[in-house]
Amino acid sequence: MKEIFIKQRFEVPFRYNVYFKRDLFEESNDFLRKLLESEGASRLAVVIDGGLAQAQPDLRSRIDRYFKGSFTAACIEVQGGEAVKNSWEGVEAVLKLVNEQHIDRHSYVIAIGGGAVLDMAGFAAAIAHRGVRHIRIPTTVLSQNDSGVGVKNGINYFGKKNFIGTFAPPNVVINDVTFLETLNDRDWRSGISEAIKVSLLKDPDFFEWIEENVHALNARNADVMEELIYRCAELHVEHISGQGDPFESGSSRPLDFGHWAAHKLEHVTDYTVRHGEAVAMGIALDVCYAGEIGMLSQALTDRIVRLISSLGFAVYHTDLGDENGMNPEIMHGLVEFQEHLGGVLTITLIEDVGKAVDVHEVDHDAYDRSIKKLKNRS
Ligand SMILES: NC(=O)c1ccc[n+]([C@@H]2O[C@H](COP(=O)([O-])OP(=O)(O)OC[C@H]3O[C@@H](n4cnc5c(N)ncnc54)[C@H](O)[C@@H]3O)[C@@H](O)[C@H]2O)c1
Ligand SMILES: [Zn+2]
Repeated sequence: MKEIFIKQRFEVPFRYNVYFKRDLFEESNDFLRKLLESEGASRLAVVIDGGLAQAQPDLRSRIDRYFKGSFTAACIEVQGGEAVKNSWEGVEAVLKLVNEQHIDRHSYVIAIGGGAVLDMAGFAAAIAHRGVRHIRIPTTVLSQNDSGVGVKNGINYFGKKNFIGTFAPPNVVINDVTFLETLNDRDWRSGISEAIKVSLLKDPDFFEWIEENVHALNARNADVMEELIYRCAELHVEHISGQGDPFESGSSRPLDFGHWAAHKLEHVTDYTVRHGEAVAMGIALDVCYAGEIGMLSQALTDRIVRLISSLGFAVYHTDLGDENGMNPEIMHGLVEFQEHLGGVLTITLIEDVGKAVDVHEVDHDAYDRSIKKLKNRS
């Protein structure tokens, strides 16, 4: 019998801008109001990171004042940090707000906060009414230079990072460096590891620029940090569209360099280690490993690990392993990384700064040796 079928194919273009602004909610700064007006928005659901609200107690009233008279805006605060991704509570709170505020597909959910709150709120916005418009206003270094400018959202489930989530590009992202003033030193530093990561994968000049600016970054120079964020965000954004696989249907995920161990370490330490801190250790580990298997020169291996340490990052954690080698639970992260992506195991290493290489099998002994070396170094 003749096989019959109906062919279906269409493409949906996505575009969004990442703006760099300062003092976004100053009454005199009408950038955001104008932007919303030009999009014909009237109703807004604003989700604020509780940790941010605590650090900036006048933020809520500034936001109320900012929108008053122009938009019907309702605000909620949700718990800040990874905890908000470890249950449905935050998602339900945002969905409830969308419902009560009658947010339709022409209104906006505006999320203001760190990467965890943005991941959670972005997920809620993506599933409410099968997707409502969404603006991200990231307020940590990591969310401004990486997580907030990308296309993914999600929450953790079955004890696994980002097990539930969607690919849903935002409509707009606005980075305001003045938000970063109240970050503690850990969160100020944490996101710098993503900049090191992307410089190692793609941009030797950026890598050298980070080396030259260690002192300014450690001294919390906002202009230098803004430049770091801009270049890092730009490289991430370009990667997402430039590789032709924005929704990651392939098995390779180069931007997750150093992340297979990092994700596992975050979980094993019950998220007491920040994502960016874990990434710094994950990069040090994979760089050391690349050195062990002769892919990367020893001089470069040392230089990269030195840069990571000079920014104040730890390159080793007891939960990664000890003199006997890698903690088997961390090693299992490789299996989970493969499961999450599907297909063959693919991890990205580097053979030089700016030269990424995909590998499909690993030498466990070399990882054991790398752990020992990093332990001795620290
Ligand atoms: N979607 C993606 O593509 C992607 C990529 C990388 C990371 N992530 C996720 O991002 C999350 C980490 O994000 P993060 O590093 O921003 O940490 P975070 O969201 O946990 O925030 C860290 C802490 O800072 C507080 N905070 C936020 N802004 C503040 C401010 N301006 N002043 C003072 N305190 C403030 C928060 O309340 C929280 O306690 C992880 O869940 C990670 O999985 C997602
Ligand atoms: Zn990351």
